[in-house]
Amino acid sequence: MALGDLLAPIGLPLLRALDAERAHGLTVKALKAGLGPTARSDAHPALALEAFGLRFPNPIGLSAGFDKNAEVMGPMLDAGFGFVEVGSITPKPQPGNPRPRVFRLPADRGVINRLGFNNEGAEAARRRLEAFRQERPAAIVGVNLGKNKDSADAAADYRIGAEKLAYVASYLVVNVSSPNTPGLRALQSVDDLRRLTEAVRDARDRVVTGRPVPAVLVKIAPDLAPADEEAIARFARDGGCDGLIVSNTTIARPDGLADKAKAQETGGLSGRPLFRRSTEALARMAALTDGAVPMIGVGGVGSAGDARAKLAAGATLVQLYSALVFEGPQLIPRILDGLARAD
Ligand SMILES: Cc1cc2nc3c(=O)[nH]c(=O)nc-3n(C[C@H](O)[C@H](O)[C@H](O)COP(=O)(O)O)c2cc1C
Repeated sequence: MALGDLLAPIGLPLLRALDAERAHGLTVKALKAGLGPTARSDAHPALALEAFGLRFPNPIGLSAGFDKNAEVMGPMLDAGFGFVEVGSITPKPQPGNPRPRVFRLPADRGVINRLGFNNEGAEAARRRLEAFRQERPAAIVGVNLGKNKDSADAAADYRIGAEKLAYVASYLVVNVSSPNTPGLRALQSVDDLRRLTEAVRDARDRVVTGRPVPAVLVKIAPDLAPADEEAIARFARDGGCDGLIVSNTTIARPDGLADKAKAQETGGLSGRPLFRRSTEALARMAALTDGAVPMIGVGGVGSAGDARAKLAAGATLVQLYSALVFEGPQLIPRILDGLARAD
């Protein structure tokens, strides 16, 4: 048992007493200091699977936003995740929106954030990922790409991200669905998506040699109009991208949220209140693509049953983030054990 296994149950109530973003910063520091918990990602061989040309030790991944700067991939894989997605990473560093900008809704098990792609930029991430790759070449780390707030040329930003990071990425994500960068979600129109994914694929093909190229996935919002979902499904089916991540946070506020005051904060809502909306979007995209496009299901997963529902709705892989805020990292082996029992 690692020190982190002993500290985690004490740490969680302490962290909850802090502002959400400070708690997150402390968690990342503790993980970097080796205080994270340990659970084997390959504890249940029956959960291993192939997707995107990769062999995943289990289907449960850490979704983007937790490790924005590629600092704690190792500790999160050592906590049991089958894969980790870092980012969103923009070409240049940027500070994001003014604080406070992350809010917990404990009674709803939800989170609202309007971080706005705060991150240290592609060069800092590249350095860390390269060092990590020397140590753990086979670990599965996806790289989620965003654009700088002040950039006038979105395609150029995603191209730069891919140029810098494709060679250290297991897969790449074109994130066009965060609600906190003005104009970003408009890039979900198929004409824009085509430009962005082509730019990313071109850059990737130039920089990745000597191994199969990383897949390019598109991460979408759960708030798309039916016509946009249909167009994206057609685009994906026609090979415009290699997979979809469904979904990012929602700008909607479902009826019945208990924390009425916090629910009014601007930003993207995640966690349990997103589960139903994102799972329904996933099921629609699975139907629209005839199951021919591999998908990562994300949004509100907090139990093995939730993960199973994403798989049943058409996901090949599952990701989570918000439930960690309330349950702590012991949640990961609990989900894996539960999934293995169901098999
Ligand atoms: C604090 C926070 C920051 C996030 N940052 C990003 C991000 O930078 N890029 C991204 O694609 N998604 C980001 N997300 C969205 C998550 O990756 C995920 O799609 C969403 O939270 C739904 O999953 P969950 O309910 O398990 O949290 C963020 C989510 C949270 C809560």
